[in-house]
Amino acid sequence: MTHKVTLIPGDGIGPEVVQAAVRILEATGVKFEWESFAAGAEAFEKYHEYIPKELSASIERTRVGLKGPVTTPIGGGFASINVELRKRFELFANFRPIRNLPHIPTRYPGVDLIVVRENTEGLYSGIEHEVVPGVVESLKIITEKASTRISRFAFEYARKNQRKKVHSIHKANIMKLSDGLFLRCSRNVSKEYPEITYGEHIVDNTCMQLVMNPYQYDMLLMENLYGDILSDLCAGLVGGLGLVPGANFGHECAIFEAVHGSAPDIAGKDIANPTAVLRSALLMLRHIGEHEAALKIRNAIDEVYRDRSKLTRDVGGTAGTSEFADTIIRAMETQSAAATEEQA
Ligand code: NAI
Repeated sequence: MTHKVTLIPGDGIGPEVVQAAVRILEATGVKFEWESFAAGAEAFEKYHEYIPKELSASIERTRVGLKGPVTTPIGGGFASINVELRKRFELFANFRPIRNLPHIPTRYPGVDLIVVRENTEGLYSGIEHEVVPGVVESLKIITEKASTRISRFAFEYARKNQRKKVHSIHKANIMKLSDGLFLRCSRNVSKEYPEITYGEHIVDNTCMQLVMNPYQYDMLLMENLYGDILSDLCAGLVGGLGLVPGANFGHECAIFEAVHGSAPDIAGKDIANPTAVLRSALLMLRHIGEHEAALKIRNAIDEVYRDRSKLTRDVGGTAGTSEFADTIIRAMETQSAAATEEQA
């Protein structure tokens, strides 16, 4: 079977890390037909659209996307393509598993956390205006529908995957109506899952708690902005942004992308770590039912990290992006050869 997947290489380090992941995916033996499209500034140059119609049509058709980061101009310019894609395809659940890799020295070994972020509203609704010169207003939209939907996603995941606890993260002491509604929805949904311990923590305290003792948490459920910020904090707990994968799930389709951005400071130098996008691709393989290939890649990642001789700079090595990808492919080939020998 050939899997049709929409590919968005993105910009900055995007094309380098996505290309590395694609080579590794193809080396698993699974057949892919990639429908590749630019997005953001690059797409605008070519098509006069930040999200070309062809890209949207492709996602509607394939229902699965693998995406690199896309740069968003700061303090002006076009709105985030990343946010727009999530809204346009109702990819309401941003799922970010935070786990250590073997032999990466971090302050916290053995972290196993999941961040579940509401992806379609909050301050990311992008509704801003200048009231009078010198005064601007930015609206935070929280709805019962979206808050209940994301809470149900988190609790369903917890139930199906034997997770023990869900903490709803909020600032309802200050934003009594908006975060208060989010909290009420997660509290209500939690009652349907009595086997899962439910807790509530204020977001600023959560930052401190995570840095002091991340092991107290199992799953963190929150609205859009807190999810964005806490995901990067959690990435720091386990070795940095080069490692942490993500997935955007909707009822109709899913787009897989790393937590990190386009990293302009290291773009075009073949030094970015493709592990985060590769682990996102691994989530994609599971989503499309290619569990064996996912396991192959996972074992190869573990082996290459255990060996430590071909890691990228962000995790203490000297290897380049493509060299790291070659090493993963070689590790997969060695695994396959060993398995064949064992069978013989
Ligand atoms: P960033 O995540 O791009 O970079 C933060 C730091 O982490 C930088 O020092 C970078 O070199 C490092 N880093 C990130 N990914 C890495 C990797 N794979 N390997 C090694 N080091 C890595 O965040 P920043 O600089 O705040 O954002 C840059 C641009 O990316 C902005 O335009 C932002 O809007 C966009 N962005 C896009 C996202 C997406 O497409 N989903 C997500 C986050 C940011």
